[in-house]
Amino acid sequence: MERIYIFTRFERFWHWTQALLVISMMITGFEIHGSYSLFGFAKAHQIHTIAAWALIILWVFAIFWHFITGEWRQYLPTMKDADKVIRHYAWGIFLGEEHPFVVTRARKHNPLQAQAYLAVKLLINPILWISGLLYLYYNELAALGQHLDLATIALIHTIGAFMMLAFFVAHVYLITTGHTVTAHLKAMITGWEDGEGAHLAKRDQ
Ligand code: HEM
Repeated sequence: MERIYIFTRFERFWHWTQALLVISMMITGFEIHGSYSLFGFAKAHQIHTIAAWALIILWVFAIFWHFITGEWRQYLPTMKDADKVIRHYAWGIFLGEEHPFVVTRARKHNPLQAQAYLAVKLLINPILWISGLLYLYYNELAALGQHLDLATIALIHTIGAFMMLAFFVAHVYLITTGHTVTAHLKAMITGWEDGEGAHLAKRDQ
């Protein structure tokens, strides 16, 4: 069977560590928010703060890696064939049609995917990061004479959290829509995409 090496070791490490941290931040964050009780507020708060620093360190490393390797270009937005991809997700996918996008090493993401990931990187992550740090250092900032409105910070952070949750739900659904239900999941574990996608990619390279 034709195969293509699509995700490097660092990308897989980054992806799964980020997934673990973001899931823990959603679970503990919505507990802090008061949506349910699981660990208890104090424990949830402690986990949320530790995971926040781990996530920030990971994001800094990942940003560095993307610039050093030039892989940031994967996220350059394009509308080329975006209409075909929209039609596929709205319609063709339910008729069992093949995905219109051809995966290559140089362009791993279809146009909608690249735009969604770019929005995560340039919008959702910074919203959570900046409002989270303001939340964390609220007392210190107040002591320095910077009296920010805590309710506004909390609201912005919660909006960011819901955006991340929406992304997460869509992401998990789309993971299952490869040429088999587990094809995309396997690619992110082993690094190798196989089957039809890989075959088409090789033909086009
Ligand atoms: C995927 C990432 C994240 C999610 C889903 C998330 C989610 C949440 C949610 C839902 C809350 C409750 C907000 C409220 O009701 O007021 C919260 C609180 C908080 N988050 Fe996050 N958060 C994330 C990342 C971060 C980051 C990166 C930081 C720090 C840099 C951070 C720091 C905080 C702090 C300090 C609180 C308030 C805790 C308290 O009330 O004392 N969060 N988070």
